[in-house]
Amino acid sequence: MPTTGDAVTAYGWELHNDSGGSDKYYQFFAVLSPSPVMLTRHGRTGQAGQLGTNVNPADPEKVIREAVNLTRAKEKKGYYLSRDFVEFTIPADLIAPGDFKENIGDVASRFAAVTTHATLTGASPAPSAADQMESKLRSAHAAAQRKSAAPRRRTPAPAPAVSLPPVGPQTRPNGSVYQPRLLGGVEDLAFLRDARSHSENVLLSGPPGTGKTAMAEAAFAMDAVDGRHSGLETIVGTAETTAMDFLGTFVQDPVQGTFEWQPGPLMRSVVNDVPLLVDEIALIDPRELAVLYELMDGSRRELRITQNPSLDPIPVRSGWFVVGTYNPDVPGAQLSDALLSRFHHHVEVLTDWDLAADMGTPAWLVTVAKNLTERTDLGTYDGWVPQLRDAMAFVATAARFGEEFAVSSLLRKVPAQDRTEFKEVLGERHKAVVPLTLGSRAPRGRR
Ligand SMILES: Nc1ncnc2c1ncn2[C@@H]1O[C@H](COP(=O)(O)OP(=O)(O)OP(=O)(O)O)[C@@H](O)[C@H]1O
Ligand SMILES: [Mg+2]
Repeated sequence: MPTTGDAVTAYGWELHNDSGGSDKYYQFFAVLSPSPVMLTRHGRTGQAGQLGTNVNPADPEKVIREAVNLTRAKEKKGYYLSRDFVEFTIPADLIAPGDFKENIGDVASRFAAVTTHATLTGASPAPSAADQMESKLRSAHAAAQRKSAAPRRRTPAPAPAVSLPPVGPQTRPNGSVYQPRLLGGVEDLAFLRDARSHSENVLLSGPPGTGKTAMAEAAFAMDAVDGRHSGLETIVGTAETTAMDFLGTFVQDPVQGTFEWQPGPLMRSVVNDVPLLVDEIALIDPRELAVLYELMDGSRRELRITQNPSLDPIPVRSGWFVVGTYNPDVPGAQLSDALLSRFHHHVEVLTDWDLAADMGTPAWLVTVAKNLTERTDLGTYDGWVPQLRDAMAFVATAARFGEEFAVSSLLRKVPAQDRTEFKEVLGERHKAVVPLTLGSRAPRGRR
């Protein structure tokens, strides 16, 4: 697994020329430190192109000059800027001396994943592309130098005061194995169990398919330690969820006509002294969630269900606590301050792409997802980004139907408005793949 020390900053930009009946591009990649190098790739649009000039003068000044001069020379021949200057990171070994010819395709695809096509005007804007590149390279270089000259403030990972013994991989009720992840230096599953033992409610937030539900289930579904009841109760929130969905309701027996009390997940969790997982908690009307407040903050240690007068108050014991999950970007998501403050721990859950790679996700898809995430953080992309669930679906589909089918299926999953841009970052390799579509009648098989 590459460490951050193995990553270097690269700068890239692209010129384009579609005059005179041909459609050509010229890409530039510069690395200024630790070993300055400039790579170029040029060819016909849509083709892999070839490595044109490369210099390795071991001098960042020379790299900048070479890159700017060549950009200017191309501009004079009618090329204009088609992909804007962008800073991105690449593994250092991609530009190891002697190797970069083989690796230029990988550098280019990382570049493509973090940049966007500039508006093609057909004319060089003033100042010229070369002048722009020069000033951008110089200021990026100066900023990088300032950063490396700044006294390094050592921020060692905070050593957890208590070291929690790891729980280890857990098989979830659906049979899949959960691989624990690190959370501020401790194992996530051990952390959740520890939070439970301190009655500290935990709120997990993140995009769909990053592992929020899986983490809670893995921590508690099979947890029968200390002779406790194992398992957890789950309620999945919607805008229609009511307090009665938490507590329970009277259901009429269709034959006898009598009414029977059907406990809801909150009641069952308190009775059995197990955690309550409130999935999609931000979709639930805050007024309905008030049913949880006094139990969550410990001001009341018994559950009273006034809707069923025959029920005595049920004592809330030490194994009960709440794990909430939500996706902040979902339309209608709302969390009241009163609710937020009752969660002792707030944890963001994002996809662990190294785990995804270990689980069979191809390296190119990991690169695409990481770069799209990086672009989202930079504000240069606001479209769909695959997460662990999508990667797992890809791996399973590719295993049964082949990679091309899986790419086709993935493309169909991308929201229509993001598809063109997404396809572009997939690069040359999957250029011809189209989103999965039902075709004509299949040949008749044997009956
Ligand atoms: N650490 C992990 N180890 C193994 N598999 C994992 C891990 N985390 C998540 N997964 C798998 O990734 C998929 C998505 O996880 P999960 O359903 O928990 O996502 P989520 O964050 O709850 O999504 P949503 O917000 O849509 O409910 C599941 O198939 C799950 O089994
Ligand atoms: Mg979930």
